[in-house]
Amino acid sequence: MTRERRGEAVTRTDARAVAPERRWEERVQRTAHPLVYPLLSRVRRPVLRVPRIGVVVSDAAVLRSVLLDQERFTKTGPGSPADLWTPVLGPSVLLNMEGADHHALRRRLAPLFAPGYVAELTRDTVGASAERLTERLRAGERVDLVAEVREYAGRVISRLVGLDEEVLGEELFARVSGVTGLVRLSRPRFTEEQATAARAVLDDLTRHARRAYRDGSADTVPGRMRELGLGESEAMGAVGAFVLTGTETLVSYLPRLIAVLADTGWLGRLAHDRSLVDAAVAEGLRVTTPSPVMLRSVVAEAELAGVRVRPGDRLVLATFLADRASGAFDPVANPAASLKQLWFGAGAHFCLGAPLAMAQIGLVLEAVLAAEQEAPLEIVDRRAQRRTLIPGYRSLVLARR
Ligand code: HEM
Repeated sequence: MTRERRGEAVTRTDARAVAPERRWEERVQRTAHPLVYPLLSRVRRPVLRVPRIGVVVSDAAVLRSVLLDQERFTKTGPGSPADLWTPVLGPSVLLNMEGADHHALRRRLAPLFAPGYVAELTRDTVGASAERLTERLRAGERVDLVAEVREYAGRVISRLVGLDEEVLGEELFARVSGVTGLVRLSRPRFTEEQATAARAVLDDLTRHARRAYRDGSADTVPGRMRELGLGESEAMGAVGAFVLTGTETLVSYLPRLIAVLADTGWLGRLAHDRSLVDAAVAEGLRVTTPSPVMLRSVVAEAELAGVRVRPGDRLVLATFLADRASGAFDPVANPAASLKQLWFGAGAHFCLGAPLAMAQIGLVLEAVLAAEQEAPLEIVDRRAQRRTLIPGYRSLVLARR
């Protein structure tokens, strides 16, 4: 087995060395999924049937072709996201919908995710805190970036879904992670007991969002859903879905991005020359792939890279393998550019929140770079999060060198 296949991508300059960012990235992913990560990392074929898991797709082109083919592959059949999430969130939360209803809901919600709108929302909600973050780092404070980003992402998503801002505090975030942490690739559905517990967490959360629905406020997700004629419970399901999708991914990615930059020496480089910031963010998304796997259910027989799949088969789209096949983190060569943001999906379900994610990533990264520009920073402590759906750090403490 080659080292690249084991996930220890090699650098361009020294083919014998393990890329510096890979060691911690390996640890983060392995700590989150101690059994499944090593299992999937051993997959060498573009498409492979793995007992108890499903048909694993790890080639970028095949993976994209699945995402673009809604005739044969769906998010609503057996083993799909709908199977998993509908008992907890209800039937109308985008990620478990297909066809005309899905299209209509996305169209209605789209203005809430327009780049201009989310940039302003992000600045209004966390801009001042990001400025303070720069000052705190400059002043020599040790800052846990995970806690910091959790706070920011929570505040922004709360504003968007009409939650009281203080609701998504540490405790609630932990409870939300408790729900997503129940998900295992080897377990396509929640047990009845787990679904009941998950619904209780989400009910508690959405109690506070009902007002936004009842007011019909057009600048929140529940308000828009009401305008579309969706019921209150459906809108509350969407609140749960947006909190689930919109916080953990960012709390995973931003600290991992800063860690990759620090581990590769790019933090200092970017601080003094911002021209490759966009490429570095894209490369960071490629090598970390915060949403590592997507699921689809087969509705019509098909052949994928020589493997026949049949109705009812579950496809495990291993985006993290497809993304990292293009090598180590490298903002200069920027292999991410050819992947068309595969880390955000493709086709009808392409991440609706991508502009919101990019706005927050840009703001926080700039805050850290502004501090680094004045005095170099280092990671003084870090721990990977155990057994979580979205791999990430439990803490990542940054301070002046
Ligand atoms: C770095 C951060 C993020 C990453 C890597 C990411 C990744 C993804 C991916 C891969 C999908 C497609 C899943 C599939 O096709 O099965 C997706 C869908 C989605 N994402 Fe994100 N996401 C991020 C942040 C966000 C944020 C901040 C929000 C805000 C609410 C969000 C909301 C959504 C929604 C609602 C969908 C479902 C869209 C649909 O089914 O039509 N995401 N995301």
